[in-house]
Amino acid sequence: MPPPPPPPPPPPPPPPPPAPCPCHGALPVSAPRPKMAAGGRLPSALPAARVRAAFLRFFQQQHGHRRLPSAPVRPRGDPSLLFVNAGMNQFKPIFLGTAHPRSELSRYRRVVNSQKCVRAGGKHNDLEDVGRDGCHHTFFEMLGNWSFGDYFKEEACSMAWELLTEVYEIPKDRLYVTYFGGDSSLGLSADEECRDVWLQLGVPASRVLPFPLKDNFWEMGDTGPCGPCTEIHYDHVGGGRNAAALVNQGSPDVVEIWNLVFMQYNREVEGNLLPLPQHHVDTGMGLERLVAVLQNKRSNYDTDLFTPILDAIHKGCGAPRYQGLIGDADAGRVNMAYRVVADHVRTLCVCITDGIYPGLSGAELVLRRILRRAVRFCSEVLRAPPGLLASLVPTVVEVLGDAYPELRKSTDQVMNIINENEAAFLSSLERGRRVIERTVQQMQPSTNFPADVAWSLYGNLGFPLDLIDLMLEEKGIRLDSDAFNELVQEDAKRKAEGVQAGQLEGTDMHLDVHSLAQLRNDNVPATDDSPKYSYKLGQHGQYEFSPCQATVLMLYRDQSLQKEVGAGQRCGVILDRTNFYAEQGGQASDQGYLIRLGQQDILFPVESVHLCGGYVVHEVTAVETLRAGDQVQLFVDEARRLGCMTNHTATHLLNFALRHVLGDRTEQRGSHVTAERLRFDFDIQGPVTVEQLQRVEQVVQDVIKRNEAVHMAEVPLALARRVQGLRAMDEAPSPNRSYGGPGYRQRAPARERG
Ligand code: ALA
Repeated sequence: MPPPPPPPPPPPPPPPPPAPCPCHGALPVSAPRPKMAAGGRLPSALPAARVRAAFLRFFQQQHGHRRLPSAPVRPRGDPSLLFVNAGMNQFKPIFLGTAHPRSELSRYRRVVNSQKCVRAGGKHNDLEDVGRDGCHHTFFEMLGNWSFGDYFKEEACSMAWELLTEVYEIPKDRLYVTYFGGDSSLGLSADEECRDVWLQLGVPASRVLPFPLKDNFWEMGDTGPCGPCTEIHYDHVGGGRNAAALVNQGSPDVVEIWNLVFMQYNREVEGNLLPLPQHHVDTGMGLERLVAVLQNKRSNYDTDLFTPILDAIHKGCGAPRYQGLIGDADAGRVNMAYRVVADHVRTLCVCITDGIYPGLSGAELVLRRILRRAVRFCSEVLRAPPGLLASLVPTVVEVLGDAYPELRKSTDQVMNIINENEAAFLSSLERGRRVIERTVQQMQPSTNFPADVAWSLYGNLGFPLDLIDLMLEEKGIRLDSDAFNELVQEDAKRKAEGVQAGQLEGTDMHLDVHSLAQLRNDNVPATDDSPKYSYKLGQHGQYEFSPCQATVLMLYRDQSLQKEVGAGQRCGVILDRTNFYAEQGGQASDQGYLIRLGQQDILFPVESVHLCGGYVVHEVTAVETLRAGDQVQLFVDEARRLGCMTNHTATHLLNFALRHVLGDRTEQRGSHVTAERLRFDFDIQGPVTVEQLQRVEQVVQDVIKRNEAVHMAEVPLALARRVQGLRAMDEAPSPNRSYGGPGYRQRAPARERG
């Protein structure tokens, strides 16, 4: 037998893995990065994760910014928003001065983060453009740095320039900057200060361009903080040309990559602008566009943020591979379908994870439309089997999960919700088809499809508008679009009126930004509201509340601070101390009355109580003239408070019982507590059976019967997090966040608060 062949030489040892980086694979800012290819073109190898991480590290390490996690895309405590649509949303209380002086939020000076944003409704809405080109998205990541009363224009611009040209090594001759050119109707002059900053940074005058309000004045919504902005634009073509004429012209070659807003004003409900007491910087750079620049791609969909999802779509449906075709070149709209599905599945993953589910109103309705639009493109254009959309979720989580770890926890839940909604839509698609068939059969020849039927398909069956168009087009029929547009406008008007009514109502007794600044300038101290917990259990098991004595510090009426308010007028009363519980944490405020010392028989009713920037504002009808300096005594409506306390404690019991019966993955999403009732919102996978509900009820009743004591304490957040078994609802900083509150102690031995 010949000798066996010698064993093959062992393979060379693999190269040592790169040292792990705290920023999940971040490119250290100081690390050498791939050199630019010949001709000034950038290397195509900088992965999105490293682009994101380099941004965060630059501001954190080189410029002393505090790094914060992304807030959930579900806005908290801001009815003016459907979705979080910009990095600055979570900081709005700082801009408006409503952050409580003791809150973490009010201590921020320099902050950086990468924020999950959804622009699919309201003022910033890109939904209908998604898929038509390579740069619109419903979900995107916004890289942002902020200065809260710290640095301003000069430093903001110079940091941005340094990052782009020295860290990311973008050639300077590809960049253009714009500044606000002024607006005479608003009495605003051009932002020459900003222009001069850019000139001093060495940007040639031919690339420093003024633009009007519509391009260079940023507003979050119809009201709220706003200001002139300066934008940085990138020319994808380059080659020594001057592309100034293409800036802000919608050219796909010259795109805005970074917006630096100088928050100087507040847009009031009446539409006028008032200067903010402090100046802030708010910047936002779309990660997807930046990555496209750094990876030499013309379309965001060609970057590594999207290519894994596009590949997964191809594998899941067998449609021809994605080729990046746009417009007429994209026969059958297959490429558009790829983009729509890839975009929408990212949005679905992020929204569902953050507690926005496809539903029937507000953001949830928008999400339902997004889901249905995606399902439609899957089934009608890509001819994909049901289930494709949900099958993409793990790929999305793979791409985004390091940056937003919460996505990893909810993968199964997101897939289930998508699949359930897809099945429901596919069946209503069938119903819709039949509605269209029947209507078409009844139509007179050469008439248009009736607008009210289309509106009902849209509103009731959740049909995307372009689907209705497509289905009619296939039959050679047109929609009566004039009548349809009228219905759309009527609906928009109704909604706007609703929002405005809400705003007017809501801002009534909430201190506006200017009054808050004035109070602080005048050193008016925040209200001491610790007496709201001054109650104890009496000998016979009943609660005893102590009245509280206080001094009127200021009055508030017609959005201004006043020293005196006449008889018969409603006003906000700011006191040095109070025993009233202000509306917060989902619990309704106390009601009651106050009397002036020495005038026991004249009651001033307190109808509601709000907390604003540390000041407790009591909404009072002044039955007689009220003045700053008046000494008053405060009486809380005890029955109402007890009702709230009972229901507040019941939410905790319900939370416990739900988790006990339905499992630990049951998450509280919110609650609303009044004296009469409570509402408890929670997440759960799949339906809850009647039998499970009965067990939940039993668990709650058992705890009540055991007559357990309730303990409460107000402690620093860091300490609270160390308490075993204590659950916090979410991590987002919120102005009205409450970890304590008057809980109901069932007829139990009196134990003092810790
Ligand atoms: N808030 C600004 C924007 O969203 C930076 O563009």
